[in-house]
Amino acid sequence: MKSEISFDYKNTLSSAVGFEGLDATHLNTRAALEAVRTLQRRAAAGKLGFAELPNDRATLKAVIEFAEKMRPAIDVVLLIGIGGSALGAHALDLAVRGPRPLQTDSAGRRRTKRSMPMLVVLDNIDPGTMAAALEKFNPRRTAACVITKSGSTAETMATFLIVHEWLQAALGKRTRERIVAITDPQEGDLLAIANKERYQLFFIPRNVGGRFSVLSAAGLVPAALVGLDVRKLLRGAADANALCWQESLEANPALASAIVHHALDTTKDKKIEVVFAYSSYLWGAAYWYCQLWAESLGKEIDRKGRKVEAGQTPVPALGVTDQHSQLQLYMEGPRDKMITFWTAERSRAEVRIPRAFSEYDSCKYLGGRKLSELFRAERIATEAALTQAGRPNCRWTLPWLDEYTLGAFLQMLEFQTAFAGELYNLDAFDQPGVELAKTLTYSLMGRQGYQQYARRLRVS
Ligand code: PA5
Repeated sequence: MKSEISFDYKNTLSSAVGFEGLDATHLNTRAALEAVRTLQRRAAAGKLGFAELPNDRATLKAVIEFAEKMRPAIDVVLLIGIGGSALGAHALDLAVRGPRPLQTDSAGRRRTKRSMPMLVVLDNIDPGTMAAALEKFNPRRTAACVITKSGSTAETMATFLIVHEWLQAALGKRTRERIVAITDPQEGDLLAIANKERYQLFFIPRNVGGRFSVLSAAGLVPAALVGLDVRKLLRGAADANALCWQESLEANPALASAIVHHALDTTKDKKIEVVFAYSSYLWGAAYWYCQLWAESLGKEIDRKGRKVEAGQTPVPALGVTDQHSQLQLYMEGPRDKMITFWTAERSRAEVRIPRAFSEYDSCKYLGGRKLSELFRAERIATEAALTQAGRPNCRWTLPWLDEYTLGAFLQMLEFQTAFAGELYNLDAFDQPGVELAKTLTYSLMGRQGYQQYARRLRVS
């Protein structure tokens, strides 16, 4: 295993933070071992789809061939999808290429339109941004990537209809060449439409849910279309798999992280996890993780049918920016939080702070230092301050941000979530709680078969 990703939880221990921290009795290694073995059995029975994705060579090859053919014809990829069908691709794009308009490739080369098309995620259905996107981009140089596992999500289908009409007005019969559909292999309206219209199709395996699908075609297709190295991505994830099947906390960072999170929640009442990403590049991944953690573990009923109303509330924060916004609350507010730092050892580039105005104290000590030194010092200082205040905190450290590391890290976080599901003894792979609002939306919009629901609940 080449990945040098590490998880450090010493600041969650009572030896560091006193009463608010964990001790050996909280780190239930027997439960950890059981979690690994249960998931191993599920994987052997073909029921742990996300763990198999790094080995899907056929999809990888087909995606690369498709993307290489398409890429010269486009400047923009419109990703039409929401939730697990959008957050992963966005996380990858941001982590490897950085925030717009400052994007580069992972080696720091500036993005040009032709070398790397732009990824635009049309997940929200705010009419303002939708109209602006259609106004701004040239349909003749655009590809639409429609992703929905169920094949029928309201937001995705509405956006698909809008973008389809926009493309058709410019491209006529050639519209089908610019649409790629990613959906369930056996059912759903998008599958039927794609077959009828002869769109390029890729599949999300039946045993992979939306928030675990970033390394399926749902993440690979948009990533490959915008020029990311998807081979490296899956190589990183495959190497992470090898670690995630280890049976000890020392060898398996995903397992250690699951145990620590679960213990802090259930024994120390840390109902909130602040994901403090010290990198503008990791912001999308933090957002992706928040969905993974929230939707997987936020459950009313456990596997024994008991009412548990489980789940930690994940909150994304950006270092250092949120030191000047949220940190006061984390230091002195309710003791209901644990903080997880995310950091990369090496930054994408180095910038030196000039020596100037050295007659002023506020400039003198900075002159001649590297910006990365200040960035690092601020993170270390924040960790130390929280620890001193008795606030448990832990840290994921990544060596560098490229496709390989990202593939490994996201896979570890998925394993962490699956292990946590076992520790809470609940189903981490369903989401019954989101159905009611969907049903009511269909009802309010007059979808066939749903009209009665809004009336019954007196929604006006
Ligand atoms: O993780 C999940 O299952 C959800 O977030 C879904 O991805 C989201 O609701 C979109 O569903 P679909 O892919 O069916 O359009």
